[in-house]
Order: sequence, then C-alpha cells, then structure tokens
Amino acid sequence: MKTIQIRTEIPGPKSKELLARREAAIPRGPQLVTPIFAAKSEGAWIEDVDGNRYLDFAGGIGCLNTGHRPPRVQKALREQLDKFLHLCFGVTPYESYIALAEKLNALAPISGPKKTMFVNSGAEAVENAVKIARAYTKRPAVICFEDAFHGRTLLTMTLTSKIMPYKAGFAPFAPEVYRIPYAYCYRCSYSKTYPSCEMYCAKHLEDTFRRVVGADSVAAIIAEPVLGEGGFVVPPKEFFAVLREICDKHGIVLIADEVQSGIARTGKMFAIEHFGVEPDLITTAKSLGGGLPLAGVTGRAEIMDAAHPGGLGSTFAGNPAACVAALAAIETIEQDGLLARSTAIGKRFEERLRGWEKKWGIIGEVRALGGMCAFELVKNRETREPAGTETKELAHYAYEHGLITITAGTLGNVMRILVPLVISDEQFDEAMDVLEAGMAHVTEKKQPVASHA
Ligand SMILES: Cc1ncc(COP(=O)(O)O)c(C=O)c1O
Repeated sequence: MKTIQIRTEIPGPKSKELLARREAAIPRGPQLVTPIFAAKSEGAWIEDVDGNRYLDFAGGIGCLNTGHRPPRVQKALREQLDKFLHLCFGVTPYESYIALAEKLNALAPISGPKKTMFVNSGAEAVENAVKIARAYTKRPAVICFEDAFHGRTLLTMTLTSKIMPYKAGFAPFAPEVYRIPYAYCYRCSYSKTYPSCEMYCAKHLEDTFRRVVGADSVAAIIAEPVLGEGGFVVPPKEFFAVLREICDKHGIVLIADEVQSGIARTGKMFAIEHFGVEPDLITTAKSLGGGLPLAGVTGRAEIMDAAHPGGLGSTFAGNPAACVAALAAIETIEQDGLLARSTAIGKRFEERLRGWEKKWGIIGEVRALGGMCAFELVKNRETREPAGTETKELAHYAYEHGLITITAGTLGNVMRILVPLVISDEQFDEAMDVLEAGMAHVTEKKQPVASHA
C-alpha cells in the first residue's frame, strides 16, 4: 500500500487558513519551504491538517535521522516527564547529561581523553567550539570555507558563505574570520581539475598565511566534512589530510562541523570518519536530539578544558528531556542498524540517479556519501550553468505530489535528500517515483503522475 495520500489541492483549505494566520502573526524572516501545516508524523511520513499524507525527504532539515517520533525516544521522554524537566545543568546537575557526554566521547573519532558539553542549537555549538579554540590557542582568527553554512547568529552568520538570504543586510560581521575555497571540485574556485590539482585549494592555505592572516594568529579551521547547505559537496579524501597536516604544523585547532553530516547521516556516526582524519573538536546538533533541540561540542579533553568555569554554557543547555531523547536516538541508531541503512539508502539513490543521468542532461552531478545524497541541476552540462529555477520547480512539484524536499547550494540548484533513515525500501522508491515524475515535468516532458489517493 502506498504511503503518499493526496486528498485535497495543495495547500488544502486548513493549511491555507493557517498560512494566512502565519502571515499576519509571524515576520517574513523565518524560512517557509512548504505551505503545508503538519498534524502528525511517524517514521518517514507527515500528515497535514487537511488529511494529506507525505513522505519526508527533508527530515526537519536533517534532524530526523532516526525518524519521526522514534519509539525509544517517545518512551524515554514519557519516563522523563514523570521525573523532572528543566533544572539547568549548571545549577542542579543530572545523570543523563553525563551519560550522553560519555557516549559521545566514546563514539567520537578522536584518540585520547575526550570531553563533551551541550548547548541548544547548531549555531551555538559552533560559537562554543570557536570560543574553546580561542581559549586554548590564545589566538583570535578563524579560517572557514566558501559555500560553508554554520548558522545564523552573528559569528556563525559571519562564518557562513552564502550572502542571500543569510548575510544580506545584516552587516557588520564578526571580526577575525577568513574564508578560503572548499574542495568543491565540480565548481573549483581555482578552475583546476582533481586529481591533477594535487589539493591545491587546501595547500594554498600556506599562501593565505603569508598574504592574508598569519598562521600564529589562527585559532581554528572550521570545516564541514560534507557541505550541507552548500550543496552536499563531498571533498576528495586527501582534503582533510592536508588540513590536518597544516593544523598540526601551525598549532591550529581543526573543528569538524558535523551538525548536518553527523549522527549516522553518511553511514558512519561522524562523516569525518570517511576521511581517516581526527579533528580536534566536533560540533553536533540536528539529529543528535532525536527530534528535540540539542547540540554538543566534543573534543580533546585538553582543548575542551581550556575555557574557564562559567565561560561556557547556557540556561537550557543539555535540557534533561533532550538528553534522554538523544541517548534513545543513539541507541536506535546502534540497535536498529541505521549506519548500514544509511549506506544502503545512498546506494539505492545512486543506482536510480545513474539512470536519470542518462535520461536528463539537466543533471550535472550526482553526489552521495551514505544517506547524504544530492544531485545538482544545470541548464547545460558543458557550461554547468546552474538550473536554480528548475530546482525550485522540482521541489514545488514534489510537495504538491506528496513528497517534502529541500534544496541546497549557494547557486540554489541542488536537490538534497535528508530522508529519515527508518524509511522502508518501498517508501523510498515511492518517493523517488515522485521526484522522477517531477524531473520529467520540469524538463518539459510532462509525464502524467499516478494518483496517490
Ligand atoms: C553544518 C551546519 N552547522 C551549523 C548549523 C546551524 O545549526 P542550527 O540551525 O541548529 O543553529 C547548520 C544548520 O543547518 C549546519 O548545517
């Protein structure tokens, strides 16, 4: 039986009513990807207030690797409700915070003693990682990358690359942030070709240290192991090895921002594991909380301890409900084999996309590291002119036909898949059928779409 059930025009009448109320009560600033208002969800589907059922390829922007309302998370939350909710870990501590820190310390691909602290959002995790790196090195500067996304607070917006919508009109930005190209080989900023480039982009950092900012002023290099918002770009394996070497040479802290790529998204608990490199600090958020807001910084104990008591934290940081939810989410990944499932989803996606590539020249590049999958749309394979409008149309077509997606990329031309890893093969294929019909639609071949009602 099909999961997708579309019973009304999209948006339906109740969603339309809520849209009007949203417009009147809420400013334009907060993002609006679909005009669909949720009533309930489970696993890989969402039902809206008009009774339409969708498959979910967005996962709340990568927060639902363990699915909507995972049973273990529900159970842990119900039990926690009968004990206590907010206390503030800094005032009257509780065990679940410690247990979760111990778990992340054990899982993090960093050798030697490790420590973890919690905050509420990905941006806050990044802010704290930079504070810790500065406290440890006693240096001010941070190196970040083109096409990076690290959040919307002052520092993380500064670290973020894309101007519109993240930075336009919000200057002045935080000082001591320097940006260099990422290893986005499909659109190399130096117009070089991999592998003959010999990782010029990463090695060029030494030149940046001579011309832009002295290495002895740099506290940290922060990089996403796979670009998230920047378009699910997977760098060549050597990229992180070169960054690691440069950090070691100059005493710089290497921060892996795993907010989107971590917690099983790529078939490993942390995406950096694919590169055989140990970062010094790792930021986590999104799927860490199993649907609840929670973020963390995990790293070498010596570095993590550099900040003085009281210098880090926040009132709600490591909320008890979020901590038990995170422990249950990690248990779900481990007990239900979600790392292997993520890898299998990536393979299924790639197999399907190889066929589409032959059929549609609009597909410029297919990228997948485990279940972190995407394809980049171009108007022309030779010129690689981005097909941003077509990408938007595809996302629009998808939700109108029962599939929620989000796009990515600085050029707005990447369709990314952040599907809950609990999706069944049947559901995944059903969702891909919608995308395939959408591809036919935007490439003007206009195939009739099967009715899902
Ligand atoms: C890699 C990365 N870092 C940081 C953030 C910011 O996280 P949050 O939106 O929870 O502040 C995001 C959010 O998309 C992200 O993808």
